[in-house]
Amino acid sequence: MNSFEIHIPTRIYFGKEKADAFFDRLHDYGTNVLIVIGGGSVKKLGYLDEVTVALEKRGMEITLFEGIEPNPHAQTIDKAATIGKENNVDFVLAFGGGSVMDASKAIAGLIHDNEKEIWPFVLGEPKHKTMQGALPVITIPTTAATASEVTPHAVISNPDVKGKSPVSYPFFKPSASWLNPAYHTSIPLETTRDGASDILSHVFENYLLGGNDSPPADRYSEGIMQTVLKTLPLVEKDPTNEALRGQLLWSSTMALNAMQVAGRKLYGFIMHNLEHALSGYNPELAHGRGLAIIYPAYFKWLMENNRAADRLALLGEKLFGINIQNQDEAASEFITQFEHWLRENGLYQRLSDVDIPETAFDEIAAYAINVYGGGYPLDAAGPMNKSDIIEVFKKTEDQV
Ligand code: NZQ
Ligand code: ZN
Repeated sequence: MNSFEIHIPTRIYFGKEKADAFFDRLHDYGTNVLIVIGGGSVKKLGYLDEVTVALEKRGMEITLFEGIEPNPHAQTIDKAATIGKENNVDFVLAFGGGSVMDASKAIAGLIHDNEKEIWPFVLGEPKHKTMQGALPVITIPTTAATASEVTPHAVISNPDVKGKSPVSYPFFKPSASWLNPAYHTSIPLETTRDGASDILSHVFENYLLGGNDSPPADRYSEGIMQTVLKTLPLVEKDPTNEALRGQLLWSSTMALNAMQVAGRKLYGFIMHNLEHALSGYNPELAHGRGLAIIYPAYFKWLMENNRAADRLALLGEKLFGINIQNQDEAASEFITQFEHWLRENGLYQRLSDVDIPETAFDEIAAYAINVYGGGYPLDAAGPMNKSDIIEVFKKTEDQV
């Protein structure tokens, strides 16, 4: 086991019955709240009314900001922060998916520091790592995907420069999060699939590269992956089943709360580096969709570069019961079976299917190296150069 430090300050409430406990707690953070929502789903579905009533019942003053985009735009975040400042809010309540939660963290930081623009604070920009604090962030996640309800990360997009980059601080970790599966029965099929893909990626990343030092992290991660592989097809058939939705939701929180890597060697989140560069180039591309496209190609690239074959083979045994003695053959069989699962669940595509042409691969790979590698190769348990990234992108074109 390698050394580690974990701090999860978020008070988590799970389930409908925890509504009162959650809303009663909010007085700890103030009485003047900025609610941040996305394109309006939570309004149309009536969820926002429920939350507003619960807050008003507790004497809260409410300012609403509506209009955070999927892959949240820096410029929209800046506008929301200005409104929060003008209304002198005490804390920020994010009510939406990962995009809304990430935007809310950035808004909370800008208000606290009395700053106007978030983009200069993201990785690769001049004010990176200089933010001093944030207002308390509270979340009600409406997707099962990012785990932003417990993470210190906010991933920000900037269409003006075709950029997408994280800004992360311990003080971005939400103070409290209410996970209510009842708000998940309306998630559209494609968004449900994209979310499941994202959950898997959060455990895949370090499972593949981090080695064998932490059997507890391995068994924990396999449990999450087994749950997602089994549950997504069930949710597709029965989308309003709250018990199934709850299983995906809790899997998503568990998949990126740091337990999934604890005790392993730490390496970069390579698929995330590549995907963020892709959805920075095309802000219409959902994060989980981009990851699903990269999976098979990246796994094959790892094999060809003599990396992680033992871990891919282990996944084959644990997730699909593959029993093949030869390690490389077992690893290849895992990739084949996982490709089949992706295909069965509408997640097997090519980059050209999501409007990312081969002519853009060079520019996107260069962005990944410059921003996520600081100009150096990415650390994929060994170097991953620009040409390697382009090779992975090209391999996705075989996925038909
Ligand atoms: O905008 P609204 O109207 O809310 O609609 C959203 C949006 O169109 C809709 N939706 C969400 N919940 C719904 C719903 N529709 C019906 N019923 C519901 N209950 O779904 C669409 C997608 O929402 P979005 O928030 O963009 O999806 P997701 O949760 O996958 O978040 C993606 C963002 O999170 C970042 C991604 O890069 C991307 O920008 N990530 C954040 C991480 C973190 N903070 O730690 C880690 C992740 O790896 C990821 O990078
Ligand atoms: Zn992710």
